[in-house]
Amino acid sequence: MDKCVLILAGGKGKRMKSDLPKVLHKVCGKEMINHVIDVMRKADFQDVNVVIGKGADQVKDATRDRNVTYSFQSEQLGTGHAVMCTKDFLKDKDGIVAIFAGDAPLISENTVKKFIDFHKKGKYKATLLTSILENPTGYGRIMRDSKGDVEKIVEHKDCTAEELKVKEVNAAMYCFDINILLNGLDKIENDNAQKEYYLTDMVEIFKASGEKVGAMPIDFEETLGVNSRVQLSEAEVIMRNRINEKHMENGVTIIDPVSTYIGEDVQIERDTIIYPGNVIEGKSIIKEGCILYPNSRISDSIISENVTIQSSVILQSKIGSNTTVGPFAYIRPESNIGNHVRVGDFVEIKKSTIGNNTKVSHLTYIGDAQVGSNCNFGCGTVVVNYDGRDKHKTIIGDNSFIGCNTNLVSPVEVDDNTYIAAGSTITEKVPEGSLAIARARQVIKKGWVSKKNLKK
Ligand code: UD1
Ligand code: CA
Repeated sequence: MDKCVLILAGGKGKRMKSDLPKVLHKVCGKEMINHVIDVMRKADFQDVNVVIGKGADQVKDATRDRNVTYSFQSEQLGTGHAVMCTKDFLKDKDGIVAIFAGDAPLISENTVKKFIDFHKKGKYKATLLTSILENPTGYGRIMRDSKGDVEKIVEHKDCTAEELKVKEVNAAMYCFDINILLNGLDKIENDNAQKEYYLTDMVEIFKASGEKVGAMPIDFEETLGVNSRVQLSEAEVIMRNRINEKHMENGVTIIDPVSTYIGEDVQIERDTIIYPGNVIEGKSIIKEGCILYPNSRISDSIISENVTIQSSVILQSKIGSNTTVGPFAYIRPESNIGNHVRVGDFVEIKKSTIGNNTKVSHLTYIGDAQVGSNCNFGCGTVVVNYDGRDKHKTIIGDNSFIGCNTNLVSPVEVDDNTYIAAGSTITEKVPEGSLAIARARQVIKKGWVSKKNLKK
């Protein structure tokens, strides 16, 4: 018995008014299509086939690392036509195929699992998910007969005034017996308001051949299909609430969930406190006991235990435990900051390693450098890593004291246990245990002001 899933993602998405294919618009930092694929994986679907059409290459690109196969729909003639384009994928299979829409990212793993069980236990040949919407505008309506069985689905644009009043809608999520679906597909016609081949017509086709059709109601929030930017923002709010609630249930304090933006794949450990205005993206991991004061963006980074961050940007980097970052620090990709480090205000660190207990307290740039532990950077230090053509590396040992306003012209090495005098421009290696002074000596010209008649 095969079990596979189709995700329809070939549509034009006209109502989005966008150059980007609709299913690539992001909800909580992740493309809608990838939300749907990830949910299918969690619900134990190994065999995932995505129907692509409009923006096919872009959709392929965005789903590249998710190990799915593709069917190509060259012309967008409707959801039924999209499924016709998967015949090659389905033809040697026997069992059940689930079909979901790439523009409905709020479906949950739990509901998908229950749905498959419902389909199997009820011995249905076709099953659909439905829900009751206060405002069903735009959705296909579920028509039931006098016994309460589903009779057919009528698209919004094809509804009579009476049918428009029906509040039960089609979620565009189905489960079919593969063979019966393949036989029925050719019977779909496009004599409707949109001149499209509707997948929804399969319900009537199944009924006409006497097959058992089931319908399982789900929460309206899981049904939301995104056709416009307004619906995109509605999906964002629902998903954000779900994510924030999950973290709060796991022991994270979120002071103001409405203004806290956490991506779906972010992990946060207990007793971390998150103040308003934080954006945590990608595959970031925030360990126990951190305090994220307001207004930081943390993307694809690992923040170890008991770190404090305020008003800073951290990208693709690792921050060691008990370190403090900010306010107003910028930690750029591939940086590895040690434990008990201080990265203070207006400090930028790029592609550099900083050892434990080192302090970079203010107004400093460190790029392409390897810095040891227990160092102290004076205010205004600049690692001069770029000569106008190439980037070079700077290596600083342990226990170095870098005086204020030092330039370290790369490539250059500063050994362990060294001092650099404030205002130095270092171009040569500073050997272990030494003091380097690289600045002009001070000259005093006594009485110069009155000699020049400049006294005020
Ligand atoms: C569809 C359903 C409607 C349901 C609603 C729920 C049909 C005819 N209607 O309407 O009953 O209430 O979803 O959200 O199925 N697609 C393709 N190729 C196409 C057309 C669409 O791959 O030729 C894909 C789209 O990319 C999208 C999905 O199918 O991901 C749904 O298509 P869309 O045009 O948004 O359908 P709705 O009008 O929302
Ligand atoms: Ca839709």
